[in-house]
Amino acid sequence: MKTLFELCKPRQSVFDETKREDVLNLSDLKEGKIECAPFFEENYITDGMKTLFDTAFNRFIKRGQTGVVKLTQAMGGGKTHNMLALGLLASNPEFRDKAITNSERYKSIGNVRVVTFSGRESDAQFGIWGSIAEQIGKKESFSQYYSPLSAPGETAWINLLSGDPLLILIDELPPYLENAKSKTIGNSDLCSVTSTALANLFTALGKAQLANVCLVISDLRAAYESGSELIRGAFKNLENEVNRSAINIEPVGSGSDDVYHILKKRLFESMPRADEINLVAIAYKNEVAKAKQMGLTNISPDLIYTGIKDSYPFHPSIRDLYSRFKENSGFQQTRGLIRLMRQVIAGIYLGDKSKAKIKYLINVFDFDLNNRAMLTTITQIKQELSNAIAHDIAANGKAIAEEIDAQYQQELVGDVSKLILVSSLANVPNALLGLTLQEIIGDLCEPGRDIAGLKRALDEFQSRAWYLEHDKEGKLLFKNVKNMIAELHSLVESYDNEGVRTTTLKTFLADKFKSIVGDCYQNLLIFPAIDEITLNADKVSLILFEPYTGAGLHPCF
Ligand SMILES: Nc1ncnc2c1ncn2[C@@H]1O[C@H](COP(=O)(O)OP(=O)(O)O)[C@@H](O)[C@H]1O
Ligand SMILES: [Mg+2]
Repeated sequence: MKTLFELCKPRQSVFDETKREDVLNLSDLKEGKIECAPFFEENYITDGMKTLFDTAFNRFIKRGQTGVVKLTQAMGGGKTHNMLALGLLASNPEFRDKAITNSERYKSIGNVRVVTFSGRESDAQFGIWGSIAEQIGKKESFSQYYSPLSAPGETAWINLLSGDPLLILIDELPPYLENAKSKTIGNSDLCSVTSTALANLFTALGKAQLANVCLVISDLRAAYESGSELIRGAFKNLENEVNRSAINIEPVGSGSDDVYHILKKRLFESMPRADEINLVAIAYKNEVAKAKQMGLTNISPDLIYTGIKDSYPFHPSIRDLYSRFKENSGFQQTRGLIRLMRQVIAGIYLGDKSKAKIKYLINVFDFDLNNRAMLTTITQIKQELSNAIAHDIAANGKAIAEEIDAQYQQELVGDVSKLILVSSLANVPNALLGLTLQEIIGDLCEPGRDIAGLKRALDEFQSRAWYLEHDKEGKLLFKNVKNMIAELHSLVESYDNEGVRTTTLKTFLADKFKSIVGDCYQNLLIFPAIDEITLNADKVSLILFEPYTGAGLHPCF
């Protein structure tokens, strides 16, 4: 069996800091800045993308029923990417064979005209319609709608757009409409006029005369949910108009393996042969089977086997655990995962080579929280867990997990704690959080790892960690509140000996030994200094003295 290092070579872009943040948009397409070959080299064709290509190209041969496609998915989910892919295929016929499965069917289509509008172009002088008319070389034919800006009707759109195949891509409308709200036109505003213009366009696309046109628009919802009441109303109306005529396509299937295929494509130059992957999958299956025999896990070895065959070079648990926080606000779905994984993989390949040599898969816990950039990335996903990380997981050797691992000369609790951390990162309502011990062990099994000592080390971790909690179902998770152990610690710390003697303990004893009936003693002295003791012949005194640490009675007596 070969290691990860021997089998998979990351793309150079993984190590290139400047490349990590590249975000392409429609302006890049319009300005011809995107090269087809490298774009498709790193593109994975998802089912959604396949449907998008088919829907659009069927329109270009005038066979498609629906002329409006809405790409649904939150920020960073691949909407713009899908528009770019389609736009490139439309204007570069030579790349169609590779990207479209039944490209034969579309052989007759030559160069398709492509028109784009990105909502970032908030300064478009003559509105969206002006921009579209200009791009197809008919700026003048719409001049009656420019001053004052007014919405073209259905017939006007039909006259403008009919003819050769045409692709219209409209992205990021929400910021445009938000801004347009403040531009007054008569006793209305540009936002309303734009909404009317687009609603007219959508209905026009339902007409036979425009059977040559396909319009792709990105979802408005994510943006209007966070927007003001006023904007929400406007978006909702427009959204309803879109929904009336559009089919929805999800660029990256949320319940599918799409995102892993995308990660493989984007991050690695090539994948090893199936038989090499099979050996790795068998090795993991055997490890899990061993743990299961010992009663340590209930994870099915066969599931791990088939899981690895699909997810290689990633451990299958990554799929479940990473999808838990992909809906977090601030985390950008597919884009977020690509960024995170770039960092993780760069860390593995640039890090300690001796460790990488015995690595076979990229696992959930394969990141170094003592690396500043990595720590920032993880804490950004759920900021409130930064205390948990600093105290329990990683603090340059001083965190609880690191101390325990150093003590037993292993790398076990560190990995477990990171696994639990990842499982606790979701911050959306009703999110799944935490893992059972059985699940943890199942995810931890790997060739060469001895999990026999895990139970003992984990018990110690549980008794010392401050932010680790058990939920009702026995799942372990990190929270941002200190647990009982931490509370006890801080209580103990706050009690110095003197403080306890003078206040808390004295009050406690005074209460417990208070003379009530007065039969045995009438006077009570607690921790008095010797010279404070004045005895009285008429009264019996009870003197409570601190225990003497040496042998025998206190020398004072
Ligand atoms: N099918 C895919 N193949 C390769 N990369 C993809 C694919 N889908 C999305 N991506 C990548 O995911 C990231 C986010 O996509 P993007 O289209 O910018 O999201 P959105 O427009 O929904 O906010 C981009 O870096 C893009 O390159
Ligand atoms: Mg986008």
